[in-house]
Amino acid sequence: MTSLGVNIDHIANVREARKTNEPDPVPMAMLAELGGADGITVHLREDRRHIQDRDLKLLRETVKTRLNLEMAATEEMIDIALEISPDMVTLVPERREEVTTEGGLAIDTQAQSLKKVIDLLQTSNIPVSLFIDPTYKQIKASHNIGATFIELHTGKYAESTPKNRIIELSKIKESTVQAKNLGLRVNAGHGLTYQNVESIACIKGIEELNIGHTIVSRALAIGLKDAVKEMKELIINPRKELVI
Ligand code: PXP
Repeated sequence: MTSLGVNIDHIANVREARKTNEPDPVPMAMLAELGGADGITVHLREDRRHIQDRDLKLLRETVKTRLNLEMAATEEMIDIALEISPDMVTLVPERREEVTTEGGLAIDTQAQSLKKVIDLLQTSNIPVSLFIDPTYKQIKASHNIGATFIELHTGKYAESTPKNRIIELSKIKESTVQAKNLGLRVNAGHGLTYQNVESIACIKGIEELNIGHTIVSRALAIGLKDAVKEMKELIINPRKELVI
């Protein structure tokens, strides 16, 4: 059964808009867990635009499910990950100017440096996932450098026109099969919504979907616990394979 990782960065975005102390993502993570989240994901960015070091420390103490730390493969972040020891690290590309993570990591062009980071974290019992575009080149390169997981970038699928959606969906499906055949474990995420998640949730072999913006948006209307519950129901019991 596909599980749900809830990304709570956008709760911290609201707090940082005023540089105050509310809303606090730490108790909100508990509500997400009560709604059925199988894991909590946060991205500690170099510029600390949303999640702060304090959030990460407190989440490590309070998250009862699994804590997935998204981060860039920098020395600063590696030291933090080794200190905090999250249940998983997801390495992502990061650019200060971007509004959100744009493309996946180009594994093939930085294989040696990424391999060192993966070895360091995984020998400290922190499994590493690589956020990549759904291409065989990146999947093979991820396998070659010893990642445990990949997270397939679903952004293109999410943003595609109805005409192209089936093509983008088939890339995710094909990539899942290719990665599983190489022995990689597969997660997916980015841009998924209540409207487009079911086709992705139907793909066999994807273990976890990481979803943030749409859940936090829905939470404004119905509360976080119920927003997570609604998403979890769609993921566990998707009604249709393709929503066009
Ligand atoms: N996965 C990764 C690697 C991400 O960077 C993000 C965005 O922070 C997500 C999943 C969640 O994306 P969204 O907020 O669009 O659901």
